[in-house]
Amino acid sequence: MNIQLEIEQRIQEIEAVLKKYLPKEEGYQKTVLEAMNYSVLAGGKRLRPMLMFETYRLFGGSGRIIEPFAAAIEMIHTYSLVHDDLPAMDNDEYRRGKKTTHAVYGEAMGILAGDALLNFAYETAAEALTMEEGTKTAGKAFVILAKKAGVYGMVGGQTVDVESEGCDISKEKLDFIYRLKTGALIESAMVIGAVLAGAKEDEQKTVERAAGKIGLAFQIQDDILDETSSLAVLGKPVGSDRKNKKSTYVAWEGIEKAGQEVKRLFAEAMEELDSLSLDHPFLSELLRYLIHREK
Ligand code: IPE
Ligand code: IPE
Ligand code: MG
Ligand code: MG
Ligand code: MG
Repeated sequence: MNIQLEIEQRIQEIEAVLKKYLPKEEGYQKTVLEAMNYSVLAGGKRLRPMLMFETYRLFGGSGRIIEPFAAAIEMIHTYSLVHDDLPAMDNDEYRRGKKTTHAVYGEAMGILAGDALLNFAYETAAEALTMEEGTKTAGKAFVILAKKAGVYGMVGGQTVDVESEGCDISKEKLDFIYRLKTGALIESAMVIGAVLAGAKEDEQKTVERAAGKIGLAFQIQDDILDETSSLAVLGKPVGSDRKNKKSTYVAWEGIEKAGQEVKRLFAEAMEELDSLSLDHPFLSELLRYLIHREK
């Protein structure tokens, strides 16, 4: 399998879905609509919708019910990035190889575009609730989408991340930050895929455990790249964590150990997925690819 090519193909499919749901840039509030589309269409790996689609297919899903959810999770993820980059948060100027949303549209529009994207995600996902195929599953998927993005999920993690700048925090608290700020949306993506495809309760739990490990590994790798990569490759500034005195795995245990942790966590995630006894050639390749990712 040429994984790079497969990923490219899937990105194109996801972007076609996204474009179907993104708003038209018209009306007196045109500026915020432009800022929303600018941030979502700037690029990115589309990892969360990709994982959602793959988990859906893994459990035999083949309908369209997943599409509004896939678009919604990328909108929520993108809003989290737009706000994460604001001056009051990580204060970064580049994202996905372009100027950050607030750098182009101003801070107020950055805040509003984030707010609008978050709400638009629910407007989009709510469409699934009216689709007949989703009668049994879309309600549960919607609850997962909402909870994992909120104060007991991503927002909660971001809160402790910001509060822990410059602090010496415990490993337990560090894990809490990672599990929530990054793990929660990856769990959301994969569990929603499983739920929509009709996976059993214990299978959903296994998927959630695997996703949690993938999320943790993914964030640690992000921290490593923040030290070792470049703006040109990464599409966002390096040294952002150091600048903000972030509490990260890299700061905690150094790059080498953090790298070992990434490998160990991905291997554990793979074991969880293998325990489902389902065929997942693309997912395994994707995980292998993510360990060595450079952006
Ligand atoms: C960036 O996420 C924020 C983290 C949770 C590390 P991604 O690395 O998935 O960002 P995009 O979507 O590819 O831009
Ligand atoms: C952010 O983590 C995770 C989010 C919920 C946005 P980072 O602050 O490390 O993400 P980047 O490096 O800016 O993408
Ligand atoms: Mg941050
Ligand atoms: Mg950041
Ligand atoms: Mg980072």
